[in-house]
Amino acid sequence: MKGKRIIFMGPPGGGKGTQAQRLEDTFGIKQLSTGDMLRAAVAAGTELGKQAKAVMDAGQLVSDDLMIGLISERVDQPDCANGFILDGFPRTIPQAEALESLMADKGMPLDAVIELRVPDELLVERITGRFACAKCGRGYHDTYQRPKVEGVCDACGSTEFKRRADDNAETVVSRLEAYHRQTAPVLAHFEKTGKVHVVDGTKDIDQVTADLVSILEKSTAAG
Ligand code: AP5
Repeated sequence: MKGKRIIFMGPPGGGKGTQAQRLEDTFGIKQLSTGDMLRAAVAAGTELGKQAKAVMDAGQLVSDDLMIGLISERVDQPDCANGFILDGFPRTIPQAEALESLMADKGMPLDAVIELRVPDELLVERITGRFACAKCGRGYHDTYQRPKVEGVCDACGSTEFKRRADDNAETVVSRLEAYHRQTAPVLAHFEKTGKVHVVDGTKDIDQVTADLVSILEKSTAAG
């Protein structure tokens, strides 16, 4: 599966990061998580991180200008040469329009937009049970996705894990509200491309992966 360029959309806790990591491992298509980029900037104390922290802690969206600049530079990096999966971008109509324009300018056609559809009532448990390896970022869940060896990361062997500052029941409500108000309209925007695929994100993790692989094997930038 060479050169795929894919957008993953879906609510907070919908499974975007989980599935993007799996597709990156399997097919070498780079996962570009804007949430991960912002958390790295916060941890490093950069100017971007300082601007983003309070917004993220409140479950609101960081400004379009900052996010568009971040992605525009990132897709030019050599590790995106075999394609990329956008996980968490675009999240607003201006971000979607800027993405379409920059991909056209860079000669990077879009292959597919995937909506991972999960009802709100399942998301709070998913988010509050989530943790990740502190060293490599591999994602886990208290119930649905535990490490194969308890307390040891499957991917890198680290024994240190972390939880996100915004993964609490109060902030989830704001994140869901932002999703429905600002991000769901982006799906309607992409409908005109004929490249939107809806995937049932309530199935178990392996089944969702199988459904995604099946869709992506059939999708091409021309189709
Ligand atoms: P971001 O990091 O993108 O968070 P999000 O969109 O809220 O999405 P999540 O990471 O919470 O969910 P996910 O879909 O990746 O779920 P996961 O696979 O981990 O953004 C954070 C913040 O950054 C935003 O609030 C905003 O402030 C800012 N930001 C980021 N991008 C921005 C942008 N473009 N513009 C403006 N601001 C931006 O799964 C969740 C859990 O469920 C895991 O523990 C997993 O193991 C489990 N799980 C996954 N799939 C299943 C399944 N099928 N069955 C059971 N459990 C499952």
